[in-house]
Amino acid sequence: MPPLSNLAVRDVETVVHPYVNLASFRDSGPLVIERGRGVFVFDSDGKAYIEGMAGLWCTALGYGNEELVETAAEQMRKLSFAHLFTGRSHDPAIELAEKLKEIAPVPISKVFFCNSGSEANDTQVKLVWYLNNALGRPNKKKIVSRVKAYHGTTIAAASLTGLPANHRDFDLPLPGFLHAGCPHYYRFAQEGESEEEFATRLAAELDALIVKEGPETVAAFIAEPVMGAGGVIVPPKTYFEKIMPVCAKHDLFVIGDEVICGFGRLGTLFGCQKLGFAPHAISIAKALSSAYLPIAAVMMPEAMYQALLVESKKVGLFGHGFTYGGHPVSAAVALKALEIYARDRIVEHAAGRAPQFQARLRALGEHPLVGVARGLGLVGGLELVADKRSKRSFAPQNGVAARAVRFAEEQGLIVRAVLGDVLTLSPPLIIDASEIDELFDRLGRALDRTLDWVTRERLTQA
Ligand SMILES: Cc1ncc(COP(=O)(O)O)c(C=O)c1O
Repeated sequence: MPPLSNLAVRDVETVVHPYVNLASFRDSGPLVIERGRGVFVFDSDGKAYIEGMAGLWCTALGYGNEELVETAAEQMRKLSFAHLFTGRSHDPAIELAEKLKEIAPVPISKVFFCNSGSEANDTQVKLVWYLNNALGRPNKKKIVSRVKAYHGTTIAAASLTGLPANHRDFDLPLPGFLHAGCPHYYRFAQEGESEEEFATRLAAELDALIVKEGPETVAAFIAEPVMGAGGVIVPPKTYFEKIMPVCAKHDLFVIGDEVICGFGRLGTLFGCQKLGFAPHAISIAKALSSAYLPIAAVMMPEAMYQALLVESKKVGLFGHGFTYGGHPVSAAVALKALEIYARDRIVEHAAGRAPQFQARLRALGEHPLVGVARGLGLVGGLELVADKRSKRSFAPQNGVAARAVRFAEEQGLIVRAVLGDVLTLSPPLIIDASEIDELFDRLGRALDRTLDWVTRERLTQA
C-alpha cells in the first residue's frame, strides 16, 4: 500500500467515516474529492473521474450547476434561516410543498419536511403509529420491510433496513420491525421458477407472515421501487401487482421509499410509476435538491393528515420536527431543481438514455466475473461471482467488488461496491451518450484488471 498523503493522514486522524471498515481504512486512507463539473469530479491531485454513482445516488443534475448555486446565494442573502416550528413559515417551504403536491404520483394532502432520507423514514414510522392510535387501533403497529432493503441508519430507519451490518451490535432491529422476502430473482428464485411465479410466491409468503403475526398487529409495508443499496434489485415481473392486494387485504399503510428512485432515476418522475404501484405515502430526499443541499420530505395522504389533527388535538401539539426541516435555502434550491427537471426535460432525457445505458450494462453481463447484470432506467448493478454456472460467490473477506472499485478509480471512474459483491452504477441523469460509452469502457477495463487479479490470487477456486 503506498504511503498516505498529508491530507489523507489528517483525515484518518480526525474523521470517522460511514460505511468503511475503520481498521483497514487506516491503511488505505480516503479518496479526497476537491471539485466537480458536469458528470466529472476531480481529486486533490487533479485527476478526473466520471461520477458513476452521482455521489450517493443523488447528484442528478451533476456538478457546478450555476442556477442552483445562484438560487442558494440569493436565498441566503434574503433569508438565511427560518423554521416551521410553533406556527412560523416561509415562502420557499410553502411553494415547495405546493409543487410537490402538484407533481406527486398519488393523491397527497400535506408535506412534512426533513433533512435526510433516514429522517423521512423515521417520520413515516412515527406517523403510522400516530395514525393507528388516532384510529383506536393501538395494537396495529408492526412495520414490514424486506430483506436487503435500505431505508437509512437512524434507529427506526435502520430497523427498516434489511442489511446485517446496519443491525449487528447496534442492537437492532427494534422489536416490531419485520422483514419479508427479498425480490431478488437471481439469488432467491427457486430452480425453474419464472419471474411471475417467484412474485406469486413472495406475495404468498408476505400474506403468511402477516397472518402469523396477526393482521391486527401489522400496520404498514415499506418498499423502494427498485432496491438500491441492497444491490440494485429490480423486482420480478408482476411483483407489486401481487404484493399490493396483500397489503390491502390486511389494511396495511403502504410507504413508497422514493429516496433513490424519485425524480427520474428509473425514467419516470417517480419510481412507483415505472413499477406500477400506488403507495399511500412517499419518502423523498437526494435528487429532490440534486444534493446541492440536504432536504427530504414525507408526502402524506389526507387520511394521515386527519389522524395528525385528531392526535394533536388530544395531545396538545404535534410533537415532531427538525430545526432544519424545510430550511429556506434548501427549499429554494429544491424548487429550482424541480423547475430545471421540468424545463430541461431531465426525466425524458434519462428515459431516452436508458436503452443505451442498459445495453452497455447487460453487455458486461458476458464478462467472466459477472454473474448477472441488472438495472432499470439509469441505475444498474453487476453481481460478481467466482463461478458463473453455479452462481457461487467469492468469499466476502476477499473483497472482490471493493478491489474492482479501486481498479475503476485507476481508470477514472467512481462506482460503488455493496454487500454480495455487487458493483452499483447510478450516474447523474444529465449524462450524455458519449459519457455513457466512456463510463462503460472504463468499467470494462476495470473488470479485466479485477479478473487478472482474481486469477493471480486464485480466488475463483472453490
Ligand atoms: C432508498 C433509501 N432510503 C433512505 C435512505 C437514507 O437516506 P439518508 O442517507 O439521506 O438518511 C437512502 C440512502 O441511501 C436510500 O437509498
